[in-house]
Amino acid sequence: MQKLKVDFVDVEFINEQESKPQNSESVSSSSKFLAPPSKGKFDIRKSESRAILPDYNKPIEFFISSDASSVVEHTKKVLFLEDDDIAHIDAGELHIHRARKSAGMSTTRPVQTLEMQLAEIMRGGYDHFMMKEIFEQPDSTYNTMRGRIDFKNKTVTLGGIKDYLTSIRRSRRFQMIACGTSYHSCLAVRSLFEELTEAPVSVDLASDFLDRSPPIFRDDTVIFVSQSGETADSMQCLKYCRAAGALTVGVVNSVGSSISRDTDCGVHINAGPEIGVASTKAYTSQYIALVMIALQISNHVITTAARHKEIIQGLSEIPKKIEKVLKQSEHIKEISQKYLHGRDSMLIVGRGYQFASALEGALKIKEISYIHAEGIQAGELKHGVLALVDDKLPIVAFATQDSFSPKVNSALQQITAREGHPIIICTEGDNIIDRSKASAMIEVPQTIDCLQGLINIVPLQMMGYYLSISAGNNPDRPRNLAKSVTVE
Ligand code: AGP
Repeated sequence: MQKLKVDFVDVEFINEQESKPQNSESVSSSSKFLAPPSKGKFDIRKSESRAILPDYNKPIEFFISSDASSVVEHTKKVLFLEDDDIAHIDAGELHIHRARKSAGMSTTRPVQTLEMQLAEIMRGGYDHFMMKEIFEQPDSTYNTMRGRIDFKNKTVTLGGIKDYLTSIRRSRRFQMIACGTSYHSCLAVRSLFEELTEAPVSVDLASDFLDRSPPIFRDDTVIFVSQSGETADSMQCLKYCRAAGALTVGVVNSVGSSISRDTDCGVHINAGPEIGVASTKAYTSQYIALVMIALQISNHVITTAARHKEIIQGLSEIPKKIEKVLKQSEHIKEISQKYLHGRDSMLIVGRGYQFASALEGALKIKEISYIHAEGIQAGELKHGVLALVDDKLPIVAFATQDSFSPKVNSALQQITAREGHPIIICTEGDNIIDRSKASAMIEVPQTIDCLQGLINIVPLQMMGYYLSISAGNNPDRPRNLAKSVTVE
């Protein structure tokens, strides 16, 4: 067996008494949130490469983290490892080794002092958590899939539900329960769930489910979706469904939360902490987690094999495609300011897979910009909503290509025939939609039908953010709302 070849790396300590720096080159790229290493002289401990903080008599505690923000409440002294560094902690000593030598690579690792406030560090250079979280989505969506999807062999393995698959597959129906954005993620995947599992799927708002107290049976599988895992209404429903003997599955972001503890099994969405009250990255990760659950439940069905492959291929491209939408932030900002800022009300129209996007987009806009926004199923326009349409009412329409496109185009015609000038979210390079009567177009990359909502929601998240800023609001802390709703 080949042995791992290691080299020692030196650790530098700032001597606070002295003033002039000797070396400031090896500061990591994350150093913009750190005190520059220019306030002291470094005491370089050659050859030993161990971090024994010299002035400390008390035992040393080490915290290992991928993000300094997670340890800043315990220590402000941080040392950033570089690629291929191996940290070895033994008996209160830290040794850093190199797995491989690379030319030009610094062999010193400065111990640096975090200077900024916890909140600022966590915002990572963005003005608000919400924007940071919107921009994290290429990473957070990837993290939801990491270690679970084998993109090469096109398979999904969810460790958290694997042992319960037999019972889940025996279920006569699926019930999904959630609130707010989490409810919308359930709506977004409902038809895919029905398609792949061939079982009836109900989606309920937790508060409405409690009001109705509907019949739940032992052979039901009930899926609880919650970012916080602490939402009181969802928790009450969980108690109710457990008492009825149903199998309960949690789809939760906060590890160790009540819903993740009290469900029989489940999937953590691994989106990372979501601080902004408006849920953004949790939505896209919940959506993916639910898609993965549907894939895992149905992976024994031969007739769905081709669809599985197509979906898994589509999932592999989602982070890059979200990145492409994020690059249009200036365009989306301009559209928001020109056509939506200062308005009292707007409609967000979609159908099929995009009905959930319309509801979630409307929620994003209203909760942080305080502008009334209503998500409309395009097929419902003629059943009442068309009465609102004129040349003044702002309308955002989802019209990306899928099997519902002819129906969506007919809805667009109904709108433009009433002098409406919608902002249209369409597929890149679309040449079918009549653009002449649109106020503006936002072109987004195409993915397969059931995943398109992951891409389409991003412009709406950004519109909500920009409208909130233009109105002088704090998008992270909208009035009258809390991040975790722990009261019924
Ligand atoms: C949406 O932006 C809100 N944060 C809210 O609707 C939220 O999704 C709802 O309160 C449910 O919270 P949960 O996902 O933590 O259960």
